Amino acid sequence: MNNDIKIAPSILASDFSNLKNEIIDIEKAGADFIHLDVMDGHFVPNLTFGPPLIKSIRGLTKLVFDVHLMVSNPDYLLDQYIDAGSDIITVHIEACNHLDRTLNYIKSKGCKAGVAINPHSDINFLENVLDEIDLILIMTVNPGFGGQKFIQSMLKKIALTKTLIDNRDILLEVDGGISPLNSKDVTNAGANVLVAGSSIFASNRNADYTKNIAALRN
Ligand code: DX5
Ligand code: ZN
Repeated sequence: MNNDIKIAPSILASDFSNLKNEIIDIEKAGADFIHLDVMDGHFVPNLTFGPPLIKSIRGLTKLVFDVHLMVSNPDYLLDQYIDAGSDIITVHIEACNHLDRTLNYIKSKGCKAGVAINPHSDINFLENVLDEIDLILIMTVNPGFGGQKFIQSMLKKIALTKTLIDNRDILLEVDGGISPLNSKDVTNAGANVLVAGSSIFASNRNADYTKNIAALRN
């Protein structure tokens, strides 16, 4: 089992009517991060949740809150996500007009700053902000929905990003369609944080989270 790989279950696939227990159970099952998918119905064609929900579950766990903002112009919302207890705030390169300023603001408030990049976007745009980044999130589906199919050509992008990161202290996260069928491929390519929604939570009501998380590490 590979413990250098961090597993970040996306609660988007959890049972919202039982969210408190889902958080407690996923921590017991060996999750490293809680991945929180914030969608605004504008940057992506779907709407999820915001700061009040994040704040309300913050006290339930000590796990890292890995907040993925799929929102247009995130700057005016950052304070609310910081106050809600985010540990990592990841913004989309496609959604920011002043990415360098946004990343520096997040870091100035004591959070780690991540940049997410859609399947069509070029990683070379990250080159000029690499020294501001704590995490790069490679989208392996088009953002907006859980349960989509992993885009195979992203393996090459993950490997190129790994090369770009070089020996910097930057986490390389992948998100979308991650399952035991491709977890080895993405980690071989250089990913060290795996987001997973459906493959951990949603397969059936009696899903064994410990087994599902272990399967992603193997
Ligand atoms: C997609 C989200 C993902 C998604 C992952 O827009 O960013 O985090 O919920 O879900 P699965 O693992 O089901 O693809
Ligand atoms: Zn996500």
